[in-house]
Amino acid sequence: MTAAEQGGAAPDDALAVVAEGVQKRFGRTWALQGVDLAVQTGTVCALLGPNGAGKTTMVRILTTLLRPDGGRATVAGCDVVRDAERLRYRIGWAGQQATVDELLTGRANLEMVGRLYHLAQRAAARRADELLERFGLTSAGGRLAKTYSGGMRRRLDLAASLVAAPPVLFLDEPTTGLDPASRLSLWEAIEGLVHGGTTVLLTTQYLEEADRLADRIVVLDLGRVIAAGTAGELKRLVGGERIDLVVGDPNRLPDAAAALRRATGAEAEVSPGQRRATVAVTTGVAALAAVVRELDAAGIGVEELDLRRPTLDEVFLRLTGSGTTQDRQPAPTAGAAPSERGAGR
Ligand SMILES: Nc1ncnc2c1ncn2[C@@H]1O[C@H](COP(=O)(O)OP(=O)(O)O)[C@@H](O)[C@H]1O
Ligand SMILES: [Mg+2]
Repeated sequence: MTAAEQGGAAPDDALAVVAEGVQKRFGRTWALQGVDLAVQTGTVCALLGPNGAGKTTMVRILTTLLRPDGGRATVAGCDVVRDAERLRYRIGWAGQQATVDELLTGRANLEMVGRLYHLAQRAAARRADELLERFGLTSAGGRLAKTYSGGMRRRLDLAASLVAAPPVLFLDEPTTGLDPASRLSLWEAIEGLVHGGTTVLLTTQYLEEADRLADRIVVLDLGRVIAAGTAGELKRLVGGERIDLVVGDPNRLPDAAAALRRATGAEAEVSPGQRRATVAVTTGVAALAAVVRELDAAGIGVEELDLRRPTLDEVFLRLTGSGTTQDRQPAPTAGAAPSERGAGR
């Protein structure tokens, strides 16, 4: 019976990645405590989580670099354990550490990968040129990779993962450590791939990145899925957006707070010391426009007016009760697996 026959879910070939109850243990640490995942073909799914959440472990399992201790997963229709060989030819993978060979030129790096995929010399060279062009590296193609900036290396790494034109691409923290301009150009490169039909599963610590790129976000913490949905759904879950304003004249702060209330129907929090008033909103830019109209009608001048989204820290604070600290460890679960589901193979 197909998933569709079971009750309206998408048929299996519409899902590029399916994971059910995936578990992984390292010694006494459960890195994954039963993770479910479903990524629709042709979409971007972001695994969002702080350090130690289990993101890399999940990607390594889905790319056959690690065997799960429980549960099951398929990628492009191939089981990650039983069909590992076949699966490897259907995916691309770019990890946190760039895998480029520093002592080769950018072009030679790509040609080498092409040869590993059994492309003939001419075909490998042609593919290398195409990819250099696509990632804005044509003029740098003849230079040794060790002379590349961080952003150029990541683009070269991404290009290398695409030599075989895989239908499913895994990117583990593709922009961590990059400057804003490099991050933006990598985002554009990823968007271009998705436009061309590639399914992407990426991991990130940045809500902004998930927001920009992902159709669906799965929030992972301590080896468990703690929330999932579109960026909008996730933000509403953690309390929507805020409008912040700072008045020029401190005496007008009460009037400004009243204007916020009239515009949004919600009570503003006021910080007189900072001449600031803040209100939670659910309608985003429309609320901001209403606030501008009310302030204008009341003749209140403001020095700052911001519509801001929850930060990743606010998301985690709300969902987990703790921030994105780097040193949290999953509580070791003594003895039996945390979930029996799917275990035992
Ligand atoms: N090879 C390993 N040996 C021991 N522990 C590991 C290993 N890989 C990951 N871990 C642990 O598993 C947990 C999840 O790690 P990881 O998947 O790398 O998280 P993330 O990529 O989200 O930062 C962490 O507690 C980490 O210390
Ligand atoms: Mg990681």
